[in-house]
Amino acid sequence: MNSAENRGKTSGEPVRQMVHFVGAGPGDPELITVKGRRLLREADLVIFTGSLVPRALVTNLPAEVHDSAGMNLDEVFELIHRAWKKGKKIVRLHTGDPAIYGAINEQMALFNEHDIPFTVVPGVSSGTASAAALATELTLPEVSQTVIFTRRAGRTPVPEKQDLVSLASHKATMMIFLSVSMIDKVVDDLLAGGYTDTTPVAIVEKVSWPDENILRGTLATIATQVKEAGITKTAIIAVGDVLAEGPPPALSRLYDKSFSHGYRKGKV
Ligand SMILES: C[S@@+](CC[C@H](N)C(=O)[O-])C[C@H]1O[C@@H](n2cnc3c(N)ncnc32)[C@H](O)[C@@H]1O
Repeated sequence: MNSAENRGKTSGEPVRQMVHFVGAGPGDPELITVKGRRLLREADLVIFTGSLVPRALVTNLPAEVHDSAGMNLDEVFELIHRAWKKGKKIVRLHTGDPAIYGAINEQMALFNEHDIPFTVVPGVSSGTASAAALATELTLPEVSQTVIFTRRAGRTPVPEKQDLVSLASHKATMMIFLSVSMIDKVVDDLLAGGYTDTTPVAIVEKVSWPDENILRGTLATIATQVKEAGITKTAIIAVGDVLAEGPPPALSRLYDKSFSHGYRKGKV
């Protein structure tokens, strides 16, 4: 434990520390940030979110480590609050990036209510890690300049104007979380929104884990592929023409030799 260091030099009173929300990344323990790794090593208390945080990140730490999978919000907060009052260094470790479906807002609200200072250290989201695994640029010129991170409504409702049917009408790149168990309905919604049978789709299951699995298909084939592969959770559904094979229809202007910008003069 590092708590001996967390006392005021003259008063001997515990010096209250900043609590850190840290993004663990999508699975590969090397995909945490350098800062996140350091905070974990310095922590007295680490609370991590269940099955999706790689165990390698929370083993062999000097800290007391808790899995929040079986805990409710009050229990998590109580554990943090008690340790914080004693001057402990605390990391709340979330999968991927904490800002994406991380349920950190309600925790931050409680921290604010109790005047507990905190920071958020970003992480690699499974959404962007999936793009890397697919070797796909999500924002291709003249194909899509927009990426939509979304989910289909399930037990958690989605605001009406953000249902998959309306979002699909933009024909932007879509990275769909938390929805692979509803693949038939996802496909129906995307087709109803204006994508076609030939729109490329990829499923990235357990991205960056040793058993990562990637399926590539189209809206006509993907539901059958998902069922045959037995994929029911921990997957991103990537949708859009940026996934099409072959040369891109247009090149980025950034490296075009005739294009000038603040750091380079274009050659005529
Ligand atoms: C509660 S959300 C957490 C998302 C996380 N904060 C992030 O940024 O990746 C859980 C969903 O994220 C996606 N997910 C999380 N980790 C994943 C992984 N390693 N591979 C593929 N999808 C993953 C799945 O869609 C899963 O249902």
